[in-house]
Amino acid sequence: MALVRIGGEKTGSGLAEAEVVSDRAAVTAFLARHGIDYERWTPAHAVGSDAPAEAILAAYAAEIAALKARGGYVTADVIDVTADTPNLDLMLAKFSREHWHDEDEVRFIIEGRGLFHVHPADGPVFAIEVEAGDLIRVPRGTHHWFDLCGERRIRAIRLFQDVSGWTPQYTGSGVDEQFDPVCFGPTYVRP
Ligand SMILES: [Fe+2]
Repeated sequence: MALVRIGGEKTGSGLAEAEVVSDRAAVTAFLARHGIDYERWTPAHAVGSDAPAEAILAAYAAEIAALKARGGYVTADVIDVTADTPNLDLMLAKFSREHWHDEDEVRFIIEGRGLFHVHPADGPVFAIEVEAGDLIRVPRGTHHWFDLCGERRIRAIRLFQDVSGWTPQYTGSGVDEQFDPVCFGPTYVRP
């Protein structure tokens, strides 16, 4: 179940006050007001932690086909990283600065967690913490950035309208530096 945190930027003396939205209907409505689709899918297909991408795509073939039909997506793949993935920091650094894409960013999270920060043109930055079972669509052109949570694990199906549109376009605003990439869900505190 995704959580939303609004505000909470760094200040000279700590962090600004943040509002956390955790009720599912409220999260869905808040995100919809910002053009972001959010749905909760029960991961209906058991796939092992070490299952290859092809097995995941095959298991979720029906859901992927439905999404493709809805959103004009033409291809799907699986992003699957752990704390041990080689060059993980380099990979993450591409997406942890504010950017936008010329196509939607669609993710269905199968395992792990991640944190999208979204910077609307007309309001405060908010963060969306996603976990297994969350389907999210961030529309093309939305200013955002992405980090993994502390355990540095995510496995998600990605859908693309046009793979060439996936290149991040950086805003260079530096606003991402005002926010800690810290997840805040109930499962955050782990030894
Ligand atoms: Fe992105």
